[in-house]
Amino acid sequence: LFGLPEQAAHERVLLATDPATGLKAILAVHSTARGPAFGGCRLWHYDTELAALNDALRLSQGMSLKNALADLPFGGGKAVILKPEGQFDRPALFAAFGRAVQSLNGAYITAEDVGTTTADMRGMQAHTPFVSGIPREGAFGGDPSPKTAWGVFVSIQAGVRLVLGRKSLDGVRVALQGLGAVGWHLAEFLHQAGAKLVVADVDAAKVERAVAQLGAVAVPVGEILAADVDVLAPCALGASLNEQTVPALRAKLVAGAANNQLATPADGDALQRRGICYLPDYLVNAGGIISVAREYRGEGEEAAVMAEVSKIGERVEELLQRVQVADSTPARVADDWARSKLVKLA
Ligand code: NAI
Repeated sequence: LFGLPEQAAHERVLLATDPATGLKAILAVHSTARGPAFGGCRLWHYDTELAALNDALRLSQGMSLKNALADLPFGGGKAVILKPEGQFDRPALFAAFGRAVQSLNGAYITAEDVGTTTADMRGMQAHTPFVSGIPREGAFGGDPSPKTAWGVFVSIQAGVRLVLGRKSLDGVRVALQGLGAVGWHLAEFLHQAGAKLVVADVDAAKVERAVAQLGAVAVPVGEILAADVDVLAPCALGASLNEQTVPALRAKLVAGAANNQLATPADGDALQRRGICYLPDYLVNAGGIISVAREYRGEGEEAAVMAEVSKIGERVEELLQRVQVADSTPARVADDWARSKLVKLA
């Protein structure tokens, strides 16, 4: 069903509707073995309701693996809101969504994802305490995307050293697909470290800014995945690595923020056969969830969160060691590693 062998493993899926506000949402709780299911909420236009369900199921499963590998005391969940057609009352929509989150009594905790903002999260606070990613006076909190970008950056650093055999990022060519909340911060970190950037985004203004401020070279959206670079960082939407794109890739290392980059597990195998090292998305992009989880637990403090996010680089090293021992692919080894951690915490 839905092309997901593990689909039956989802603990709960709530279909929430509210005709008054136009809310149609899917809240997917994949696993609460490690703790409450934690994962962002996506607001997106889907062609069909089935496509939205598929996205929610895939993303929530990914959150279980992400939270487990990041050693967080949380399970995996994710919500998608089907974007209403035309004009809609955004605060009212998120109030209704907040009530749906509340109806799960803490089994699911929400935060930002593609299409949702810190203001949306703040608005929900009146309806549920099970929300994070909110700027808080006198306390740590807010937009997780700079932390996500930092985790991807330290992963690229580790990969460049261990896979490409280069001492630093100086002069390393990196292609960025997507210059949004995460992609832009990542571009800045890479630029500061001396990397040469090749960029593409469907939003021309973002590309122009990267060219002007970061000396990036712009390429058309359709050419970014096959750019002549050392590293490819997919930071737009999922399934960018598929049957059509993998044969054309020229980078030797792939590490980016986008969730569900591999269209199918076979695409990870195909990358390996082509001698391309793919660092699994849910390992490298955990900085954001580490940030909102710390905020939610009231443990946040900027330096401590950054230190925890920096550990992603060490996990990349450990993964690459495990890959050598297992004689397998990074994607499959990371999956097994994460699944071994999907257990009740003492
Ligand atoms: P965003 O919506 O701010 O940025 C996405 C960017 O990709 C936009 O600038 C958009 O114009 C561009 N884009 C869309 N289609 C494109 C295409 N075909 N080619 C080139 N550019 C394209 O989203 P954000 O927050 O930066 O997230 C990016 C990815 O990272 C998403 O897949 C998200 O799920 C994932 N992610 C984000 C986290 C966060 O902290 N924001 C945490 C973990 C994962």
